[in-house]
Amino acid sequence: MTKVTMTVNGKSVSAEAEGRTLLVDYLRGGLGLTGTHVGCDTSQCGACVVHVDGKAVKACTVFAMDVMGAEVRTIEGMANADGSLGLVQQAFQDHHGLQCGFCTPGMVMTTAALLAENPRPTEAQVRHGLEGNICRCTGYHNIVKAVLAASGQDADAIAAE
Ligand code: FES
Ligand code: FES
Repeated sequence: MTKVTMTVNGKSVSAEAEGRTLLVDYLRGGLGLTGTHVGCDTSQCGACVVHVDGKAVKACTVFAMDVMGAEVRTIEGMANADGSLGLVQQAFQDHHGLQCGFCTPGMVMTTAALLAENPRPTEAQVRHGLEGNICRCTGYHNIVKAVLAASGQDADAIAAE
């Protein structure tokens, strides 16, 4: 076991990890940040997406040790300083972009990274950007609306499915 240190949600943290410890297990088991979910064992679902140095990364696909020293952001770091929902989270709530909520942390993290790169995406760009995230509940329509709303666009302009 090695002490692995990184910055998570603006705070320097450290926890013991083995060389094979995945980032998602480090976050959940080592740090108790259980908002990052594990929804598959095939790197397909996107429930585990976090930001590593500003990029959306599936935390089940990297070893904790390989991101030693990095700046990591998880869903726990997405609220406003006063504890209220952050902009993307609020848009998901306002547009009913979740049902069971299991995929939502990954969806929010992917959305935030997408909007950082492309602040006014088209509907097609949103759908493309979310391709790595699976939702088993919503049918995606309201998620796409939420992302468009978070970008300041008229979410209701997209056609009903
Ligand atoms: S748990 Fe990482 S992609 Fe499914
Ligand atoms: S809201 Fe249930 S899996 Fe997406």
